Amino acid sequence: MKEKSRGTFNGSIGFVLAAAGSAVGLGNIWRFPFLAARDGGGLFLVIYIVLALTFGFTLLTTEICIGRKTKQSPLTAYKKLHEKWGWIGIFACVVPFMIMPYYCAIGGWVIKYFVTFLTGGGKEAAADGYFGNFITGTTEPAVYMTLFLAACALIIFVGVEKGIEKTSKIMMPILFVLVVIIAVFSLTIRHTHPDGQVVTGLQGLKIYLIPRLDGIGVKEFFHVLMDALGQLFYSLSIAMGILIAYGSYMPDDTDIVKSVNQIEIFDTLVAFLAGVMIIPAVYVFMGAEGMSSGPSLMFVSLPKIFAEMGALGDIVGTVFFALVLFAAITSGMSIMEAVVSSFMDEFKLDRTRATVIEGVLALVIGLVVCFGYNFMYFEFKLPNGSVGQVLDIMDYVSNYIMMPIVAIATCILIGWVLKVDVVIGEATKNGEKFSRKGLYVVMIRFIAPLLLGILLLMSLGLL
Ligand code: ALA
Repeated sequence: MKEKSRGTFNGSIGFVLAAAGSAVGLGNIWRFPFLAARDGGGLFLVIYIVLALTFGFTLLTTEICIGRKTKQSPLTAYKKLHEKWGWIGIFACVVPFMIMPYYCAIGGWVIKYFVTFLTGGGKEAAADGYFGNFITGTTEPAVYMTLFLAACALIIFVGVEKGIEKTSKIMMPILFVLVVIIAVFSLTIRHTHPDGQVVTGLQGLKIYLIPRLDGIGVKEFFHVLMDALGQLFYSLSIAMGILIAYGSYMPDDTDIVKSVNQIEIFDTLVAFLAGVMIIPAVYVFMGAEGMSSGPSLMFVSLPKIFAEMGALGDIVGTVFFALVLFAAITSGMSIMEAVVSSFMDEFKLDRTRATVIEGVLALVIGLVVCFGYNFMYFEFKLPNGSVGQVLDIMDYVSNYIMMPIVAIATCILIGWVLKVDVVIGEATKNGEKFSRKGLYVVMIRFIAPLLLGILLLMSLGLL
């Protein structure tokens, strides 16, 4: 009876689309392409795919099994598995709690750009200083952040099947089609530069796909490996408590291993296609240097490229920001659900109350994030050498410190304390096949904690 009141996904497709919706987010569309372009093109791609099939598969399977076995939220699942290891649950709940406010702030920026392009303001968005002026404003970023948060809260409030599952079933197929359309369009672009040189989208595709090994020694290779690992972690929504929450709503007869394969394929395919959408277009208009703009790529460089496309630019820009918005909402709602389900299970709250409490807390902190770019502006030197504001600090603490800790502790708990049969037994309880069993054992006990430990030390600036 209790399980029913927590809600369940209707079936395997609903679960896979919801988990893929969580995975496919801002990370895939905005971060993956610039990392791929910076880190040797095809080299990054190959490393990323190998990591997805090994490391990603291991942690996805583990978290989903923990959720389904315990039928608990991230906050309460770990203590159900082992009384002394319940502290991991606190971390696994604090991570999405910290991410939600700044994810909403960025989600708000996406809504702003979507509205701007939809209303024919693409030229304005391409002007120098447009993005800076927008995020340093006092009212607009806060209003858009609140809108994004309200959209996520509304879906979570409606519930697992009618809210999360239904939204994912509508938004994910549309998102996929839109990504394919823009990716194909991007490959057909050609542009004549003032010096007469003609550059095509297909030339840009080569930059993306062909591994660039010049200047890649052991040290550089290691950096690419760690970049890919950090990206994979964020992209698959690992160590954010989300997969435990979603796993707890998974029907008992759904094949976990098969679902994990589908989630991995969907997430990696969308990340890959995001690169096909973005890298050729940037290359055609800005050359290889265009990709070096890093995080400002989506809000600064791309609007300039859409403006170069003339009349078509507003349409392409509108479609692009619509798909980014879908990706952001399906991820944002999953981040919120990880917190809401924790409040429900720990404090025995109903869904409405838990959603309102998390909504208000995320709103207050979200406002602090927005104001961090104007009257609460300060600069803080992070241990990895970068300088950040409120958003960057929250991103740094959650992604680079707390998430690796959650994942390392989960590997130790499952690999060494409880033993792998907890996970393998759950995944095969209906007689399903666990095809990468040997790999799973080696990954969870040795390789994943080792790689994660290195990632953590690098993030702390100690390596
Ligand atoms: N996995 C989500 C993203 O990539 C959080 O944005």
